[in-house]
Amino acid sequence: MIRVFAPGVVKLFGEHAVVYGKPAIAVAVDKGVEVSCERGDRTVVRTGKAYVDIEYERGTGATHARGHEAFLSYVASALRRAEEAFGRLTAVFEIRGDFPPSVGAATSASVSVGLLKAYSACLGVDVGATELAKLAHGVELEVQGAASPMDTAVSAIGGMLRIEPNPFSYRRIDSAVGEFVLAILPRRGLTKDIVADVRALRSRRRSVDAVIEAIGRVVDEAEGCLASNDLACVGELMEINNWLLGALGVVGHEVVAMLRYLKPYIFGGKISGAGRGGIVVLLPKRRGELREALAAMEVPSVEVAVDRNGARVI
Ligand code: MEV
Repeated sequence: MIRVFAPGVVKLFGEHAVVYGKPAIAVAVDKGVEVSCERGDRTVVRTGKAYVDIEYERGTGATHARGHEAFLSYVASALRRAEEAFGRLTAVFEIRGDFPPSVGAATSASVSVGLLKAYSACLGVDVGATELAKLAHGVELEVQGAASPMDTAVSAIGGMLRIEPNPFSYRRIDSAVGEFVLAILPRRGLTKDIVADVRALRSRRRSVDAVIEAIGRVVDEAEGCLASNDLACVGELMEINNWLLGALGVVGHEVVAMLRYLKPYIFGGKISGAGRGGIVVLLPKRRGELREALAAMEVPSVEVAVDRNGARVI
């Protein structure tokens, strides 16, 4: 049996603006997705808990489960692309994730990267990180319609990366800033729909381009602060980035209230990913008190550290 780990991805700066060609900074973390692959005579994909709504129609007895369709479309697309790239394989795949699906830790990207890596490893093919990133980005584009290469590249390659989306390139940021706390809030909406809402806002209001431009500048400044390990600067720029994301309509009042309450314990914080709930990344200043404050608010949280290696056989 082959086992693969694909790291989750925390977006530190630049999400949404990256869809319009601006750079972004994201980091691979030590929590993510594990995919196992065992060859057999049919292909089956198993996963753990599913977050579904069930509808039951009295009379006909019909039941419908909603919520898993999006996840399964990533799986189906990844398997098809894997077969095109590496050849035919029948196998049982088991997917186990550290985060609930679609909270904003690039769960979909890690699933695609992990499945593609496990498929190739099961066939004895050693796929390189750049090819893996490209294949997995194809999955995201197919399922989401619009997706930057950020999440899939960072999960495949690992470390803290500055991403240029158009044309795709990246550079590693050598930073000692490497430990984050992720608060997990209930998510309202899918990445695909939130990205579409921002696109619609941008086409209605010319001023939105200035917000996107400003996010790009925050990314440039943040890269310097990360490289010089200036926590106060990184935290302050996270806050600025969060307000700019608020201007794009993706930061809810619960995030603003939580960040205000946590202020004494953090250098800064912001949504991480598409927004509207989901993951809020916090740069801890007083870790113990932060933990207590989150527990007092009954907000689930997880502590993560940088994963420098990207998707790999374990
Ligand atoms: C989603 O994790 C990040 C977004 O910038 C979308 C993307 O980059 O494709 C919102």
